[in-house]
Amino acid sequence: MKTLHQSPLDPAFVQNPYPFYETARAQGTFFHWAEYNMACTGNAAAVNAIFRDRRMGREAPAELAPKIPDHLKPFYAVEAHSMLELEPPRHARLRGLVLRAFTSRRIAALLPEIETLTHQLIDGFPAGPFDLLAHFGQKLPVIIIARLLGVPEDMSGDLLKWSNAMVGMYMAAPADPIARRAREDRAIAATEAFVAFMRQYVEARRQDPRDDLITSLIAAEEAGEKLTTDELITTCILLLNAGHEATVHTIGNGVKTLLETDHTVTPENANTCVEEILRFDPALHMFTRWAYEDVEVMGHTFHRGDQVALLLAAANRDPATWENPDQFQPNRPPKPHVSFGAGLHFCVGAPLARLELQAALTILFQRLPKLRLTEAPVYGDVYHFHGLTKLMVQ
Ligand code: HEM
Repeated sequence: MKTLHQSPLDPAFVQNPYPFYETARAQGTFFHWAEYNMACTGNAAAVNAIFRDRRMGREAPAELAPKIPDHLKPFYAVEAHSMLELEPPRHARLRGLVLRAFTSRRIAALLPEIETLTHQLIDGFPAGPFDLLAHFGQKLPVIIIARLLGVPEDMSGDLLKWSNAMVGMYMAAPADPIARRAREDRAIAATEAFVAFMRQYVEARRQDPRDDLITSLIAAEEAGEKLTTDELITTCILLLNAGHEATVHTIGNGVKTLLETDHTVTPENANTCVEEILRFDPALHMFTRWAYEDVEVMGHTFHRGDQVALLLAAANRDPATWENPDQFQPNRPPKPHVSFGAGLHFCVGAPLARLELQAALTILFQRLPKLRLTEAPVYGDVYHFHGLTKLMVQ
């Protein structure tokens, strides 16, 4: 396995990681990324195989569970109940409860609301150049997930703020220890505020059942051993965080690409175009897995305790799977990309995200056919998240 050096904090890499991915993929199925000290792959077949291999998972093997420093304990206390960080059987129980409440009927029923909200947001756009991410991309997914869960919409500002601070924990740490600690402190403060809000809100909602996800989760909790209060709170936080963060940036990256390549989303191409947006420039680039036993993947043997990083955005441009992968083709016949993962942890919110993206982008381009960029968009310096700092348009 070749060793490659690439700082995830290097501005040129953050703005355009694709040349590095291509170099890395050309070295073989796996390479050793020195800065992460980890085996990595951007090979589509390997990424798919590892996502689906039950001998590998997200939860660290017990003997290797990282020691959590005291100041970070509140964050990891929440993570300890997150389905995203767990393997069976706890994962199956928590995911099953969410899926039961997250029915396709409930998702499909959101379409008229998504459409109305999209129109309302567009009606409120300023006349001059404005930031589409702030006025549109950030607003829509957070309001929709708040409604689906049954959290007051006027909390959206706080939810956005808490969630932004919490996801800082997954980003490449700044080299400066003071900046790193400041980011950690922000994440912990946000976690504590989020948990305190959810705890009192769930208590209040016990007496006030409605047709929303919190009510279904409270019912599961009250039915007995199925869901503890802490699991209920973490599940709500996970859904609220995961439920908008990536969708916000997929809207941003998608509109950027569409405007740069002179394409639009129409009712006819909405399906293929959104899949191509998800493939071409995804919002989340790296997910890791631990090996629980010896596992051979495409010629490399992982041993118990080895970690491997899956580079989703690189896999989505693997020429072995995709023809002209660096070209954005809104009518490309869809086939599975890995932007929502695959296997056991496949994104629970994929149907909702797809519905939001298809509806919102179609209406945006129907209402504003002359939309154009007024500034070159810049990606945030926060690998492995790949989203714009703002998207100035007119
Ligand atoms: C474009 C938008 C989205 C993208 C790109 C995305 C991406 C992903 C990915 C890659 C994973 C798998 C992580 C892994 O295997 O390690 C995942 C899991 C998850 N996503 Fe999403 N997601 C999006 C939207 C949403 C939405 C709207 C929701 C909720 C309403 C959501 C909730 C979740 C949850 C709960 C999991 C954990 C599933 C599990 O562990 O079984 N996501 N997402």
